[in-house]
Amino acid sequence: MARKLVAANWKMNGSVSGNAELAARVVEGVASLASEVVLCVPFPYLVQVGSLLEHSRIGLGAQDLSEHEAGAYTGEVSAAMLKDVGCSHVVVGHSERRKYHGESDAVVLAKVRRAQAAGLVPIVCVGESREQREAGDTERVVLGQLEAVFGGLDDAAARRLVLAYEPIWAIGTGLAATPEMAQAVHASIRGALRARVGDEADDLPLLYGGSVNADNAQALFAMPDIDGALVGGASLDAEAFVSICIAVSGR
Ligand code: PGA
Repeated sequence: MARKLVAANWKMNGSVSGNAELAARVVEGVASLASEVVLCVPFPYLVQVGSLLEHSRIGLGAQDLSEHEAGAYTGEVSAAMLKDVGCSHVVVGHSERRKYHGESDAVVLAKVRRAQAAGLVPIVCVGESREQREAGDTERVVLGQLEAVFGGLDDAAARRLVLAYEPIWAIGTGLAATPEMAQAVHASIRGALRARVGDEADDLPLLYGGSVNADNAQALFAMPDIDGALVGGASLDAEAFVSICIAVSGR
């Protein structure tokens, strides 16, 4: 059975005082759960949230990283820096990065390689737009994004990815994919993973993202290939986020 993982994507939200309260409530709420939990927070707060999570079972993640190793790249943050401040995970290729920062599949692959070289687990996001779904292109787009990453990794590296299916039309809209719609795409992703890494594909967590909340999480997680979630808006509400973590743990 695949590992279970819920990752919070705080996006561009947070404050020193607000983070302290939110993290403390999440630490307490998930303390007895068996599933993996990661908080992906804005760069300026990594050190603060990392110290709030010390001695907890929650991992620390960033939301992006540079495709470059080090040097004259003003404003960029390297994989080594993320590792240095205690990150275990990093989101790569989120649709908001692809859209607003023009990140191509090639850049996403470069970032995945940097992350893995530094010992970080990349949470790689893939997903189609509404137009692509309506044109019947979902599978082609999603598997194409996946292939662009797989194509540049050896088998061992392909086994160290966490994949998140995030249909763009479901992100931040309140219109989550139905469990059946998400499961259909997850099954295709699992098939592609299996073709690449064999039976170990069954152990790798496939996350769904896009308007996951306390009310829809359980039905999504009841699907055989949905092993967790990447949670945006609802991760800013401790109670909602903890409910989602409880739902994935099957309690
Ligand atoms: P959402 O965001 O849960 O607010 O839809 C998910 C994401 O973008 O990771």
